[in-house]
Amino acid sequence: MITSTPARTGAAAPDGVAVAAAGVAHDHDRAARPGMRVVTGDRPTGPLHLGHYLGTLANRVRLQELGCRVTIIVADYQVITDREAPGPVRERVRNLVAEYLAAGIDPARSVIFPHSAVPTLNQLMLPFLSLVSDAELHRNPTVKAESLASRRTLSALLLTYPVHQAADILGLQGDLVPVGRDQLPHLELARLIARRFGARYGRVFAEPQALLSATPAVLGTDGAKMSKTRGNAILLGDTEDATVAAITAARTDGQRHITYDPHTRPQVANLLAITAALAGTTPQAIADEIGDRGAAALKDRTIDVVNASLRDLRRRRRELLDDPAGLDAVLRRGAQHAAEVAGDSLDRVRAAMGMDYFS
Ligand code: TRP
Repeated sequence: MITSTPARTGAAAPDGVAVAAAGVAHDHDRAARPGMRVVTGDRPTGPLHLGHYLGTLANRVRLQELGCRVTIIVADYQVITDREAPGPVRERVRNLVAEYLAAGIDPARSVIFPHSAVPTLNQLMLPFLSLVSDAELHRNPTVKAESLASRRTLSALLLTYPVHQAADILGLQGDLVPVGRDQLPHLELARLIARRFGARYGRVFAEPQALLSATPAVLGTDGAKMSKTRGNAILLGDTEDATVAAITAARTDGQRHITYDPHTRPQVANLLAITAALAGTTPQAIADEIGDRGAAALKDRTIDVVNASLRDLRRRRRELLDDPAGLDAVLRRGAQHAAEVAGDSLDRVRAAMGMDYFS
């Protein structure tokens, strides 16, 4: 667990939020205030890895500890945006929930729910689709990239999924949406829809703010971005032996003296960054500590830190997976809560549009 910065539940955040582009904040502690609704989501396409953990999961736990109301959408329908079928969704979703909980998401304070279980959210699609043009959808760079990567013809679902996602975010009344850079165009669209809906029917939705993760993308053991499909990932659910094997086999470079230079030595820098993030220190400090002892010593250090940091998480994950009924109960309660919030949003949408015309 990352515990280098203590939680500040209840502390008043200063007014000026660090904002780089309109609606994008970088500093969690300054953007997040107790009571804010944080909406995030993951497509259940496989197990979580260290990149997820350092990039998003640890931040969600942190926002929860800061007193935000965190809602995590298990975006099951989104799996079919760029592939044919949802796959073994029950196993994947249970595993995902176990990994969220094991990492510190507390179902008593935060909400985890499967998208398909809350149909109310989809009703928002109809008015929202009327507020965007097909040209705007076709311009979305992330949709373009995902369409190319899928090697399939662009489906209407993939083209419109940023609108579905806007329905999720606005329907759940999200204030803050922690995302990676690739999701920023979608957040911009959600903000646009909130504004356009307000201009046409009267204000119902606040504009959600994107919260960009400060952690750079974690590289996999082959030096490319860590990804479950590339087979270069260190999985949260791996055994300690599998982690030893993966890190031992990680690519480095020929220079014995260890320095932190992400541009010229990306693979060494990646091991340093992972180790430092988990140990609560800086990559430079780890590099200085290893010095002339070379990549093998660095890997030993990384292995120790990764396995020690994940030990409790892995044990809890196993225990949670042994109780599938308990995991399902978390989803059921989450879906109930999400349905209430979404129902409230839909009521307000229908009222604003005059669709509540009979009793
Ligand atoms: N599309 C997001 C991704 O692939 C997942 C997601 C679904 C999401 N619903 C969301 C992210 C709502 C933020 C808010 O990563």
